[in-house]
Amino acid sequence: MCGIIGISSNKPVSANIINSLKKLEYRGYDSAGIATLSDGTINEVKSKGRVDNLENNFDLKNLRGNIGIGHVRWATHGIPNSLNAHPHSSHNVSVVHNGIIENSTILKKHLINKGHDFKSQTDTEVIVHLITENLKTSELEEAITKTLKQLDGSFALGIVFRDIPDLIVGARRGSPLAVGYGPNENYLGSDSYALKSMTNKITYLDDGEFCVVKKDQVLFFNENGKKINKKILKLSSNESNYDKGDFKHFMAKEIEEQPTTIKTGIKEYVDNVNKDINIFNFPWKNEDIKSITLIGCGTAYHSCLMAKYWFEELTNLDVSIDIASEFRYRKNRFKKDSLYVFVSQSGETADTFAALDLCNKNNMKTCAIVNVIESSIARDSNFVLPIHCGPEIGVASTKAFLGQILVLYILALKLGSLRNEIEIKDYQEKIKDLKDLPGLIEKTLQHDNDIQAISSTFNEAKGSMFLGRGYSYPIALEGALKLKELSYIHAEGYPAGEMKHGPLALIEEGMPVVVLAPRDSYYKKTISNMQEVIARGAKVLLITNKSKDNVVSENIWETIEVENTNDDLLPFLLTIPLQKLAYYSALKKGYDIDKPRNLAKSVTVE
Ligand code: M6R
Repeated sequence: MCGIIGISSNKPVSANIINSLKKLEYRGYDSAGIATLSDGTINEVKSKGRVDNLENNFDLKNLRGNIGIGHVRWATHGIPNSLNAHPHSSHNVSVVHNGIIENSTILKKHLINKGHDFKSQTDTEVIVHLITENLKTSELEEAITKTLKQLDGSFALGIVFRDIPDLIVGARRGSPLAVGYGPNENYLGSDSYALKSMTNKITYLDDGEFCVVKKDQVLFFNENGKKINKKILKLSSNESNYDKGDFKHFMAKEIEEQPTTIKTGIKEYVDNVNKDINIFNFPWKNEDIKSITLIGCGTAYHSCLMAKYWFEELTNLDVSIDIASEFRYRKNRFKKDSLYVFVSQSGETADTFAALDLCNKNNMKTCAIVNVIESSIARDSNFVLPIHCGPEIGVASTKAFLGQILVLYILALKLGSLRNEIEIKDYQEKIKDLKDLPGLIEKTLQHDNDIQAISSTFNEAKGSMFLGRGYSYPIALEGALKLKELSYIHAEGYPAGEMKHGPLALIEEGMPVVVLAPRDSYYKKTISNMQEVIARGAKVLLITNKSKDNVVSENIWETIEVENTNDDLLPFLLTIPLQKLAYYSALKKGYDIDKPRNLAKSVTVE
């Protein structure tokens, strides 16, 4: 991950670098640093922790220089401290880096033998010394080309030079990097989000390319150092959405926004008048697709798992799902008649991108389901279905999860109808039910005080379990992920029917167990599994949907009833209490909800 910003201007840049770094903290917040150039000096400042620390520790207002680079770090090589914070500098060269240099150990040995001194434990520092070394014998562009060829691994780089003080070099292999154009200044950023407050004119670097950014000119080069032309794209920008408003945390805001974001998603894809789904320009014919493979990481993987149930129910397609970091290194049997769907909020997740790249290289049909439509995954896919959620800032994915499963559900419905695998009456009935979903989510969000009270029990426990069957199983996994990610409480998501095959041994007196048992076709079976954990001392929080029938079980600790809808849509509603449970649990513990420890929003390293 890590965030990079560079500004080359005709006025001092440190204030704008700091502002951009604050926006980039979703990429990492282990440390932050800046290097500017002025009067033949590299002015380098860096601190452990957040950008706020950097501001508190240094007088940044007086940091001079009309050109500079900045970085927020998510540690890979070397512990998160100020020594390992970026930029890393020699007497002449200063570098910020996102990615991992895989041959850094060998390169370091070679450079030490040549007399270079290393100060940090990072892999990045080898880049500084390699460039310094190559500049002894080559002009700038040649030295950069040579250096990049010597590096194995992935990187996005921002580089400034004491002796060439009017430019920043940017380079990309594997990790995203963009150039932005402003009035009397130009920018480098690890993605367009970092640059959006300054410009909406962007060029994305492709793998292997590098650029030279001056205040009034930007030049691009391919991996052999040959000048190339690149297109300038215009971005849509909506800064106001990035505000927390009256909410304490972005996560709280994003949970509450879900009725609106789901409404927007439905509006984009559903034609309520004709009771049909609009997916325009879908590039493949029915007969070209016999199976579907859904790929993602973390929450996005849970969306894929959720979708598997829907695709199997609504179509006759063979459905496989995969975790991107596994898919990319397995021996895959690529199938010409398969559709490969990549699910990602950010559209920048390195493993998901690598899996997409692999499919593209094998000439597969690729489709992206993303939130950020300018992202690498969106740009490299044959077809894109945006989730239209607006920016998601909290590291824990909430509204993007509902957005992803909405689009996946809509796709499953549409393919089922196009292939005549779902009856027209059912198809139209299900479209009609979708219309009520935002209102039902709104009502389910009203469960608040009850969840706040329940969250204390989870905080006191050593561990917890989340159980569900069928459609509720992926939601159980997602609920457990949210709790561990935010409250640092051990939480396991399990198919309820699997408990007796081992995990039941974990249940002890007072252990909180969330049981997702909506009144669907799995209901009775899940209730039986619930009784088995209650009999062994578990404190069960049952989440079901409203019904005139009482739940037939004794000794349930707490029950939350979500609204009623058709079975397909219940997962949307079951998710809400679980998001809130994780939120309130972390809030009570006083943890940093929008930036949980050790994590980052955009995972751009593998
Ligand atoms: O941006 P992506 O959707 O590709 O991110 C994938 C995961 O890193 C992400 O969903 C992660 O699991 C969330 N922090 C979970 O809340």
